[in-house]
Amino acid sequence: MVKALGQRLDEAAAFVRGRTSHVPEVALVLGSGLGDLADAINGTAIAYSAIPHFPDSTAPSHKGVLHIGELAGVSVVAMQGRMHLYEGYSPQDVVFPMQVMARLGAKTALLTNAAGGIREDLSVTDLVLIEDHLSLANLAGNDPLRGPNDESVGERFVSMNNAYDRNLRAKAQAVAAKTGLDLQSGVYGFVTGPSFETPAEIRALRTLGCDLVGMSTVPEVIAARHSGMEVLAIGTITNKAVSSLDDDHITNAEEVWEAADLIRPKLAEFVNALLPRLGGGAK
Ligand code: HPA
Repeated sequence: MVKALGQRLDEAAAFVRGRTSHVPEVALVLGSGLGDLADAINGTAIAYSAIPHFPDSTAPSHKGVLHIGELAGVSVVAMQGRMHLYEGYSPQDVVFPMQVMARLGAKTALLTNAAGGIREDLSVTDLVLIEDHLSLANLAGNDPLRGPNDESVGERFVSMNNAYDRNLRAKAQAVAAKTGLDLQSGVYGFVTGPSFETPAEIRALRTLGCDLVGMSTVPEVIAARHSGMEVLAIGTITNKAVSSLDDDHITNAEEVWEAADLIRPKLAEFVNALLPRLGGGAK
């Protein structure tokens, strides 16, 4: 019989605690092509495949390594590679690592992702502060919290108002202004992938108020809120979403990786400047 969620989380967290004395304050999730940021973490690296009950990362360029240590003077736990629904994982599997990181002590989650730009003024390599999301998968019943609720993880019903914490967004804006970074903001539309969206779907998402679109982050944000973490999420625009049948551009994974290569240094600088504002002693 499958063990209860709380017990699986305890076993995974105990395994990680056995390999580090760091108690992470911030949980970092590094999106497509952005994982190399974790190499700057001074601490311990553990393969997902070694951690009890942890799903493995199968997406290209998602290494599947959990890092625990110091980054910019802050104790962090970082996922170098994440799980997606398109890999065949259930929404519950996708969020298990997030729940482990909460159990390890992380109070704040900083998530990053690669995304297609829907809003016309968004350009490739832009960083976008996610202020809200729209998830058709969730509205259609694919909520990662669906099923029996484990009270040791969080409450049955979770508010998603202010899910992308207003105070953390203000801190991110302040850090961007100080470092001269042009930080956009917008609403993230979640799709399961792996097929990219049709032009009709992009027009529909635009009409529904989405500024950028991607295949991750939303399940993790829901789980992070359920686990009591505050959330900040940054989308990186790796391609422009195609909304016209007359547009000959073929959206593809290569352009996503190429743009991620350009974005990584800018994101690293921003995350390094931001982290000290997110840690436990932050003001
Ligand atoms: N659509 C969905 N997911 C993505 C995209 C996109 O255009 N770009 C990067 N991830």
